[in-house]
Amino acid sequence: MERDIGVGVIGLGWMGRVHTAAYRRVLEHFPDLGVRPRLVKAADVSAERRRHAERVGFEATAEDWRAVVDDPAVDVVNVTLPNVMHREVAVAALEAGKHVWVEKPVGRGVADTQAVADAARTAGVVTGVGFCYRFAPAVQHAHRLIADGAVGEVNHYRAVFLADYANRPDGAASWRFQRAVAGSGALGDLMAHVVDLTHHLVGPIERLSGRTATMIPRRPRQLGEGTHFSRGDSDELVDVDNEDWAAALCELESGTVGSLEASRVVVGPRVGMRFEVHGTTGALAWELERMNELERFALSDDGDEGYTRILTGAQHPDFAAFQPGAGVPMGYDDLRVLEARNFLAGVRDGEQREPGVEQMLATARVLEAIERSAESGAWEPAR
Ligand SMILES: NC(=O)c1ccc[n+]([C@@H]2O[C@H](COP(=O)([O-])OP(=O)(O)OC[C@H]3O[C@@H](n4cnc5c(N)ncnc54)[C@H](O)[C@@H]3O)[C@@H](O)[C@H]2O)c1
Repeated sequence: MERDIGVGVIGLGWMGRVHTAAYRRVLEHFPDLGVRPRLVKAADVSAERRRHAERVGFEATAEDWRAVVDDPAVDVVNVTLPNVMHREVAVAALEAGKHVWVEKPVGRGVADTQAVADAARTAGVVTGVGFCYRFAPAVQHAHRLIADGAVGEVNHYRAVFLADYANRPDGAASWRFQRAVAGSGALGDLMAHVVDLTHHLVGPIERLSGRTATMIPRRPRQLGEGTHFSRGDSDELVDVDNEDWAAALCELESGTVGSLEASRVVVGPRVGMRFEVHGTTGALAWELERMNELERFALSDDGDEGYTRILTGAQHPDFAAFQPGAGVPMGYDDLRVLEARNFLAGVRDGEQREPGVEQMLATARVLEAIERSAESGAWEPAR
């Protein structure tokens, strides 16, 4: 008999809605999952966002997040709040015995992430962390190709997340620009994804030399319920006290060298997340703006060498659950459905799967090493 899993969502902004939609859709794509998510309770300080949650199917909503954590009908808690609240809410949910799917970067730095990881270990429950790009079929395919030796021995690696959401000086100073609420800036927001994909594809980062910069040091105060894409709606300027840009030269545990870069103020790319892996016999490249494509190169002796553009299709992992034919594009929200499937399967089996809080902890250590190195000017250990 299919078991109901009571779902609670705390924070009903962009991510709260994306997580909710993933639960609503997951059985459509994975009817044999064996568990059925039931939207039990959602919380947000915004009455309008609570009304929206009720319209899309939550049985109840609350202003106070504790009402979700305390509800015995809630089995899993989604923490989709500003970073400053991740630790308090996730730890409370874990201590109440709930499984927790929490957004990256799980707090404002290593200390917060460590506290959540400790609480999860003590509770012995399942965690998920929003490293959604691992789930793109093209990325899953790349992961398998690298593991199978299809590019030979990896000897060069580079990855970037070049985003433009704040590239105008009148872009509003949302919570993401305040260290007290967000922790770091481009590091926690964007570089976290870059580092997790690096760990996933080519292994742990051992040491690094990092730099950070803030290109737009003051922004208009955000009034009302905006997003981090909102443009200034106030004449009052506030200081930005975390970084717009970060980069690192790094050495992996394997000895491979590489580079990482993230920006939230670049002009040109929109969501320019990209990795390039080069090995002794081949190469792979993927980027988010062309999520359904993988570029693949293989050395050959016939002189016809060049990258091949592979469009994902039913032969690639998880694609057929969404579309029947190659080239019909999947989207960002579909990755979150795959993430929900992975998390719920872990809950169903009582088995921790990746990516969970432990993977975020490894990533948080790298992010902090970049900040440390930017301060010291020296190479820093990253583990
Ligand atoms: N994995 C990804 O691709 C991805 C993408 C975007 C954001 N994120 C992460 O998701 C998290 C949320 O980001 P977002 O863009 O959805 O933010 P958001 O600002 O759109 O939403 C945050 C919500 O939390 C609510 N909130 C704030 N304080 C509250 C409180 N005390 N009690 C209840 N509700 C409260 C706000 O009203 C808002 O609705 C962040 O940690 C961010 O890093 C991850």
